[in-house]
Amino acid sequence: MMMRMRRSMASFLQIPDDDKGYDLNLFCVPKHYEEDLESVLIPHGLIMDRTECLARNIVEDMGGCPVVALCVLKGAYKFFADLLDYIKALNQNSDQSVPLTVDFITLKSYRNESTADVKVVGEEELSALTGKDIVETGRTMETLLSLLNKYNPKAVKVVSLLVKRTPRSCGYRPDYIGFEVPDKFLVGYALDYNEHFRDLNHVCILNENGKEKYKK
Ligand code: IMP
Ligand code: MG
Repeated sequence: MMMRMRRSMASFLQIPDDDKGYDLNLFCVPKHYEEDLESVLIPHGLIMDRTECLARNIVEDMGGCPVVALCVLKGAYKFFADLLDYIKALNQNSDQSVPLTVDFITLKSYRNESTADVKVVGEEELSALTGKDIVETGRTMETLLSLLNKYNPKAVKVVSLLVKRTPRSCGYRPDYIGFEVPDKFLVGYALDYNEHFRDLNHVCILNENGKEKYKK
């Protein structure tokens, strides 16, 4: 699978460090999380609009080549499903179309806030376009990429909804990026804190109360 890359560097929507997000009261959030969030950083509608654009970029770049879309569970499941829905919509409404199969892999890398070892569940299922929730240090992705290479895929492209601006970054950058975000702990839209907050539509900033309440 050869891809024609029209963009030399991934473009993204940058959310600046001094962006405090939106007041919680202006959006619908579940009652059980009201006390645990600082603010809404990326409203669900904006996530969807940006994802629609990423789908278009991907379809243009793939030039009709078949793709195995690999979802990195659990954090990317919402992004993956929405991205694929937009790609499917483009497939059925334009001259060009990308044949898709899907696969899933579970990576476990987080306990509270600090990265532990990256564990892969379901390695035997692997094949290649990888959908990711968030890249912080980049270590999880580097581990997965070296694993994927064992299967000799023709090409591997990584799409991540979020990339965190952090001094802890190892320098890894995905091929497609939704948003570049400040160095805060984010939850919602399937991103979790110890398995909580996946049932929240917007990407929100977790507050100290939430960290304490749901810590392990
Ligand atoms: P990395 O290996 O440091 O890039 O960590 C990436 C993984 O850590 C992601 O797949 C998430 O599971 C988790 N992670 C990193 N930052 C956040 C965050 O702000 N919220 C939720 N999970 C995060
Ligand atoms: Mg997690």
